[in-house]
Amino acid sequence: MANSNTTIDQVLQAVDIVDVIGDVLELQKKGKNFVGLCPFHADSNPSMTVSPEKQIFKCFSCGAGGNALKFVQDFEQIPFASALRKLAQRAGIEVQIQANPHADSFKTNSIVSQYYQFVLHNTKEGEAVVAYLNNRGLREDTIKQFGLGYAPSQQRLLQAVQKQQATALDLVKVGLLHDESNNELFRQRLMIPIDDSDGRIVGFSGRVLQGQEAKYINSPDSPIFHKSRVLYNLSRAKLAAKQAKRLFVVEGYMDVFRMVQSGVAECVAVMGTAFTKEHAALLAHYQVAVYFLFDGDTAGKTAALKSAYNANKLDAYVTLLPAGVDPDDYLSTHSIEAFEAIVAQSSSAAEFVYQQLLEPTNFDSSASIDAFKRGVIGYLRDQSPALQERYFHKLAANLNVSVESLLREIKAPSRRRNEPVVSITPVKYIKAERLLLNVMRTSKEQAYVIDQQMDNWIRAEHESLKELILQYYQTYSTYQAERFLPTVPEALQEEALLIFQEPSYLSKSQIADLFDTIEEYQLKSRLKYLQELRKTASATEKMALANEEFQIQQQLKRGGHDE
Ligand code: CTP
Ligand code: MN
Repeated sequence: MANSNTTIDQVLQAVDIVDVIGDVLELQKKGKNFVGLCPFHADSNPSMTVSPEKQIFKCFSCGAGGNALKFVQDFEQIPFASALRKLAQRAGIEVQIQANPHADSFKTNSIVSQYYQFVLHNTKEGEAVVAYLNNRGLREDTIKQFGLGYAPSQQRLLQAVQKQQATALDLVKVGLLHDESNNELFRQRLMIPIDDSDGRIVGFSGRVLQGQEAKYINSPDSPIFHKSRVLYNLSRAKLAAKQAKRLFVVEGYMDVFRMVQSGVAECVAVMGTAFTKEHAALLAHYQVAVYFLFDGDTAGKTAALKSAYNANKLDAYVTLLPAGVDPDDYLSTHSIEAFEAIVAQSSSAAEFVYQQLLEPTNFDSSASIDAFKRGVIGYLRDQSPALQERYFHKLAANLNVSVESLLREIKAPSRRRNEPVVSITPVKYIKAERLLLNVMRTSKEQAYVIDQQMDNWIRAEHESLKELILQYYQTYSTYQAERFLPTVPEALQEEALLIFQEPSYLSKSQIADLFDTIEEYQLKSRLKYLQELRKTASATEKMALANEEFQIQQQLKRGGHDE
């Protein structure tokens, strides 16, 4: 973790407080110490003492005092992290500027993944699992490509990762180890590492191979793993999707393996859950056709309908396989040509939604007719005028009403009664991201600098816009609205509009403040997560977790991020 105590100590040891203060104030030697006019109150007699021995300053009149970091912080009125950066720079020490308190979790997951892979490929137990996979038609290279592994019956995870300098606490923190008896979360399961769009392992899913337990279990949600935000295989599929100009969204891991192995690399999985609005935002900047490829049974159709609603700003299609057949099943018994023939029969999402809502409608029941109408209008509300018009003609014909009356209804404000709360993130963090994005937008140099320092964007839309900006600067070196704005896809326009109203020029210290704000968010979410973990932890873990919580609280205080 950056800004760890070692970094802070290192920086403090590398600078001399007399030099730091001497740069901005007149100091006079007096005995072992130096004295000067205190800048923190109206001082006429030098009442501030600087001690080279203790490396502190102290004003005997107003009480101000502290180490070199505190001085810079108070004198320049900048937050802790900025002061640290400044002093580090002065001392020629490289500090990792963006403090990512979650970096350790990525590392732990990566070490664990190596271990699971080792077990799969080098043990008797693993051999049987490889045989199972081969039996299902998975090739050796596919198994390697996805980093598949095996969590054995014997619990040796801790022992294995200790060789890599990871501790029990590290495992606890990524949810892989819990309770007094050091029980591992995954036992006797095929292990699938789940990475984010940058390829960092954020969690695992484990598939049972025998027995009655849940077919899949997953790492718990954490600050780095939000199941509703991750699309499995996106890190590998993104390039292929750009080339193929399409992306398939399927339900499961096995579907992804099979599709990739069949040559359809442009494929991601929602991992059994629904396709969310966050997923849609994450995909927006690719500007490719999105195909929901589901089983043609009732459950598959329901999932497709939900997905189509959430993807209503994407160029989306629905592809249904025969009932009871998932993409894995289908491709294990059919050729890729047969598959492409089904894809060619896909309906547009709008068409699919319309048909799904129309089919069950009872035209003898006004309630049923009303539900149909509301469903269609709800879907069309955010669509382009052209699409609205097309479906209003259909709807008007089906309902035997005038198009004008429908147009009046769509213009009326929507009643979003049951919309779930999408984000409870305080607005100041969202605002900080918006400001940073707007600086990125108008300066190539800043775009690269800020990208390097921002590890996790809070909002999926922001991550998408960041990608769009970096893409733009791959081609152009200066910002030109007429070139950039047309690249912003429909799905991101609302948010982009808000962002582009923010000031696009900020001073270095303003930008540093924004990073501090983002750091505060990261630290606070880390703190919340650790507090949650502590509830179920063993006594020893509780102590270690409490200790880390304390450290984070100190860090928040030093950064001036008090509650
Ligand atoms: N899933 C899950 N937890 C479960 C069941 C399913 O997270 N208890 C998710 C997994 O991502 C799974 C997807 O939903 O891949 C689809 O579930 P299912 O169709 O039951 O599994 P398959 O992926 O088809 O796996 P298999 O073919 O091995 O049965
Ligand atoms: Mn399956």
